[in-house]
Amino acid sequence: METITSVSQMQEFVLAARQQGKIIGFVPTMGYLHQGHFSLMEEGRKCCDLLVLSIFVNPTQFGQGEDFDSYPRDLSRDSKLAASAGVDVIFAPTPEQMYPDGCDTNVHVAKLTENLCGASRPGHFDGVTTVVSKLFNIVQPHKAFFGMKDFQQLAVIKKMVNDLNMTVDVIGMPIVREKDGLAMSSRNTYLTANLRQQGLSLVDSIRKVIARAQAGEKCASVLITMAKQRIAQEPDAVVDYIQICHDQTLKDVACVDEHSVILLAVRFGLTRLIDNHYVLREL
Ligand code: PAF
Repeated sequence: METITSVSQMQEFVLAARQQGKIIGFVPTMGYLHQGHFSLMEEGRKCCDLLVLSIFVNPTQFGQGEDFDSYPRDLSRDSKLAASAGVDVIFAPTPEQMYPDGCDTNVHVAKLTENLCGASRPGHFDGVTTVVSKLFNIVQPHKAFFGMKDFQQLAVIKKMVNDLNMTVDVIGMPIVREKDGLAMSSRNTYLTANLRQQGLSLVDSIRKVIARAQAGEKCASVLITMAKQRIAQEPDAVVDYIQICHDQTLKDVACVDEHSVILLAVRFGLTRLIDNHYVLREL
């Protein structure tokens, strides 16, 4: 496995691979790999000839007061894990490599970024879509793999790729959960045992909502109130949002149907956890 830190070297590497007719798979990450990332790498390994993993904690997608400085970073740990997952190349640029002249050009996806995390983290998605566009231009992948835990991010990236006629095939992979149901996230490492226990209220509230919806309750506000009541039982929980939205438009719905997804963002101390699930599908 190779590690490349320079943008031009990465571009030369993939150009040569493309000239040899190789199918390039790409898993963009901010590192501190977990089982969720593994499912993306495994899928990439299965359907591509060359698998590239990027590790870059992108400063432009963090707001003021967010966890950019404390975000967990450990390239040697990640390199071992990536090698065991069959990654061919790690692309691990520095911020200076990615933004040598700052960043005057931005990719902005309208509408889909207005709700949910877009509303609570202003500018976040411009940071994401801009860096993902740059990474796509550098890595030139045929297929790119993203986790569905960041449901809105996946929808926004798919829209960007479609609107800008990018040729990459964007593939969303299901959320991977710990045995007790907590959605895997690099940020879980911030949680104390007590806060982690409280964090299970997200998946618990999703389960309750699914059960109630399957029993016939179709009113979104009733289901959201149920989820809020469950989260409110936790002493340190501060709800950022709990909404039920249409999976394509990400607009709030009044009545749930097979397109409805419940999305939650809740802070526990300094850690913000997100989770989601289709309301009318088994968890
Ligand atoms: O999901 C992430 O880890 C990041 O938002 C991404 C897609 C790697 C862009 O920095």
